[in-house]
Amino acid sequence: MGRVMQLCTMPADVAEAVAEWMAGLTRAHDELGRKGPVCPFVRPADEAGAIRTECLRAESGDGIEELVAALRRQVHRFGEFPASGGREPLDSLVTVMDGLPRHRWRLLDAAQRRIRREVVAAGLMVGQFHPECPEPGYWNPSFMVSRSPVPLIVLRRMAFHDILFLHSDPALFAEYDRRFGRWYQEGKVPAEFRALYDNAPRLPAATGRPYLDYQSIPLLHALHQPRTEHQPESSFYLAGQSMELLFSLVLGEVRAAQEGMVVDDLGRCGWHLRRATAGMRLLCGFWDLLSTLSPAEFNSFRDALGEASGLGSYKYRTLEFALGAKSPAMAARHDGVPAVAAEVYRALHDASAYDDALGVLVRRGLLADDDAGHDRDPVAVRSAWARIYREETVSGDLVRWAEALMDLAETVGRWRRLHLLTVERIIGYKPGTGGTAGVEWLRDVATHHVFPELWEARLQLSGGPA
Ligand code: HEM
Repeated sequence: MGRVMQLCTMPADVAEAVAEWMAGLTRAHDELGRKGPVCPFVRPADEAGAIRTECLRAESGDGIEELVAALRRQVHRFGEFPASGGREPLDSLVTVMDGLPRHRWRLLDAAQRRIRREVVAAGLMVGQFHPECPEPGYWNPSFMVSRSPVPLIVLRRMAFHDILFLHSDPALFAEYDRRFGRWYQEGKVPAEFRALYDNAPRLPAATGRPYLDYQSIPLLHALHQPRTEHQPESSFYLAGQSMELLFSLVLGEVRAAQEGMVVDDLGRCGWHLRRATAGMRLLCGFWDLLSTLSPAEFNSFRDALGEASGLGSYKYRTLEFALGAKSPAMAARHDGVPAVAAEVYRALHDASAYDDALGVLVRRGLLADDDAGHDRDPVAVRSAWARIYREETVSGDLVRWAEALMDLAETVGRWRRLHLLTVERIIGYKPGTGGTAGVEWLRDVATHHVFPELWEARLQLSGGPA
């Protein structure tokens, strides 16, 4: 259980910056992607006197547990405020986190994710804002709509338009549907909202059998839908779906490892890297199943794939971005698909695991801040990694952590190479269903490493302690 942050008086310069930022939200913005103010809610709420502002004093050692505890307490406080005379839908609570060190601002994103479900279940919405917040705008995912001058969270009541933020998660959507579903059944709703509502994934109906319900087993089997009667397609289909789930698992572990790095807890980071790597090894194992497909067997169902290709895997792309292999062009492939674009762009704009690893090197005095940022200096980064290997023994925490990062990087490389090999034996040099040159394209992709300077540092190493 974390320390509970105390309410404090907001410093005057912070109050001024927050007021200016909120005034900006009442205006239009060229990059917003639609007409009207950035936030249509702020002006009427302000005029109704429905916005409360509070400040919490964070301490430099505060981590995710303290932030989650603080958010929970603010949710509780919000519930106890007297309603603002008939204008309840406008009620909101802005809480500034004063004193949170810069490299920990991002923990607010993780804290928001952690409490989101319970907040939404209470009919509320929680949004986090800070100078590096990766949340993309709904109408233009390149517009960084949640960047504020200081870290803060906003609580407010769920509103009809919140379908924009709740449509892609079935549990969150169920809460929305419970409150606003009637509007869609009865009235006229904007076409954009109607499309989100109709396409939102629904939780399956309960069967009353604990085993079947816990993991939605009937739905799971119903989702196994090979398109032909050829048995080999089942292996391909199952491998694809299982790999998707495993991408998601590895991504979750990578994000958890990042939380460890942000608070300089390398033990915790290593714990999650270990499981991320185990997930990648499982992913590699699926190529053993797929390499049993003969060219003729694959061709028996290839036409049924149409243009379906792993290039459309937004989970894989999100995972690549989380590992630091980012590409705006690859993100743009998912534009116009509301259910997935937000996740891909969030990862594109968010710090990667490698950014966080370099942050650790900076705070350990091994790398200058300027050499770790956007224009990172590969020579300096390489030397920092090499120094760890030269100076530490195998029991040193930094060496063990660096090798845990390497374990993950290597299994990512293995997955890519096994994909290449398997594709080469099944389709040879035919083009891919996604329209690339196939094997040649995959060969090029497979030459790239995640955490590149960690690999390159090997060049600078000879004998030595580790
Ligand atoms: C065994 C049959 C498979 C073949 C012949 C195959 C072939 C290919 C080819 C040729 C590409 C290049 C893009 C294109 O033109 O389509 C590709 C990309 C990709 N495939 Fe596969 N694939 C297979 C199975 C899978 C499976 C089961 C997955 C798991 C989800 C997968 C995930 C991916 C991903 C994520 C990419 C994009 C790679 C990147 O951007 O670096 N593939 N695949």
